[in-house]
Amino acid sequence: MKRSLIILLVSLLSIAGMALSKHDAANVTFTKDVAPIIFEKCANCHRPGEVAPMSLTSYAEVRPWSKAIREEVLQRTMPPWFADPKTSTLHFANDRRLSQKEIDTITAWVDAGAPKGNDRDLPKMPDYAPGWTFGEPDMIVDMPIEFEVPAEGELPMQNFYVPVPFTEERWVEKVELRPGNAAVVHHSIANVVRLPEGSKIVNGKAVRADGSAAAGLNSQSARSTGGLSEGGSEVFQSQDAFTRAGAFKLVGQAPGKGFERHAPGTAKRILPGMYFQFNMHYQPAGRAEKDRSRLGLWFAKQPVQYEVLTKGVTDRIFVGGKELGETRTVNGREVRVRGRIPNIPPHVDNWEISGEVLIREPITLYAFAPHMHLRGKDIRYTLVWPDGRAQVLLDVPKFDFNWQLHYELAEPLKIPAGSKLLAVAHYDNSIKNPYNPAPHKEVFWSEQSWDEMFIPWFEYTVDSKDLIKAAAGETASKK
Ligand code: HEC
Repeated sequence: MKRSLIILLVSLLSIAGMALSKHDAANVTFTKDVAPIIFEKCANCHRPGEVAPMSLTSYAEVRPWSKAIREEVLQRTMPPWFADPKTSTLHFANDRRLSQKEIDTITAWVDAGAPKGNDRDLPKMPDYAPGWTFGEPDMIVDMPIEFEVPAEGELPMQNFYVPVPFTEERWVEKVELRPGNAAVVHHSIANVVRLPEGSKIVNGKAVRADGSAAAGLNSQSARSTGGLSEGGSEVFQSQDAFTRAGAFKLVGQAPGKGFERHAPGTAKRILPGMYFQFNMHYQPAGRAEKDRSRLGLWFAKQPVQYEVLTKGVTDRIFVGGKELGETRTVNGREVRVRGRIPNIPPHVDNWEISGEVLIREPITLYAFAPHMHLRGKDIRYTLVWPDGRAQVLLDVPKFDFNWQLHYELAEPLKIPAGSKLLAVAHYDNSIKNPYNPAPHKEVFWSEQSWDEMFIPWFEYTVDSKDLIKAAAGETASKK
């Protein structure tokens, strides 16, 4: 190898690993250095038709925002990402953080007066195809009605239901939930749920056989007044609606994210007789708007080996160090009856709740999706291995309701039987929490964003439940 080439390579390598040298910093331009970062890491959200307030797809668009961009990247508030890399021991495939070098490049550029540079250096914008992330879905499920979002006011969360339209089980390997109108959809979740026996769907809402709204399922909480619930006991049932026999979260959508792809050979199972639930959190936009969100499904083309299951770390729940609920003896067997979560008192700034799941047989873990509302302050998932060693898997020291992120493990994690998964969260119901709509009120538990939720979701497969082996065993035993 030529000596000059070696020197070039060595210096390139050292640049990649270190902060910018003075010389590099002075020569930073938009087209050569900054555009590649902005196009890759920002423009997926900051482009026309997407969630961010302004488009960042050219020098003319970026230049006026340069000071704000400097601020956001220095504070690490953009791109949005909330896992603390120092305390979380796992790496995440969808980690959006900028590297220190990228941050240095952007700040050096702004400090140098945001020069444009040579047009010939400008990279091509990545191919952000409008529409569905994975191309045309195999099946599109539309929200059953077009919902009118008023110009103003605080809107209760809305649930709409669509019966699963197939007659045999289907396996979903990719899924996307797309807002019909990004201006008013704050975030949304598509769940697959069961409805109580005899329920009907009327105008997209679940109605009991006698015509009354199915309590907790539409979450038009009758007690909600002026944006604040007056009571909370039964509404917490709606959190249970998620965990009712076989129900699960299919995909969550928040700004910049609404699709999921499962690891090869794994998929989520949807059974006939169930319902797609569109769980919609709308935010009025100052003028009346309409939304009809859509769910895109891509079915597995290959035999599925493992079913992806979604569960909350909530088999046991502890508040103030005490487990909720009580143990009762039913037919000579001890049964744990889970109690209601107590309300969060007014003005407390660090109210703790924790959940626990005992891993009874070996599983493989793929993702976390912590769900809390406006008082959600922080959340941490810890694994206690069978030998008692505790490992923090994901630490979110500053939870932000506006970004309901899904943390996908870069490497699936094998968890042996006898391990325990813990999730500890804190809530800030004080005036220090800028999102807090009412620090002087106690907080109830429901799906309404002014109430609270504690659902530390995780996604996993059960190692012993190998569907391909099971199918082979079946055919072998039939012979
Ligand atoms: C996942 C989507 C997403 C990504 C990726 C993203 N942004 Fe944003 N950005 C938003 C949204 C939504 C807002 C407005 C709400 C907010 O401020 O949180 C915003 C706000 C901003 C603001 C503040 C605008 C204002 O009104 O003051 C700046 C500056 C910004 N982004 C820069 C960036 C830069 C630079 C990057 C890449 C390094 C980036 N963003 C990546 C979604 C995104």
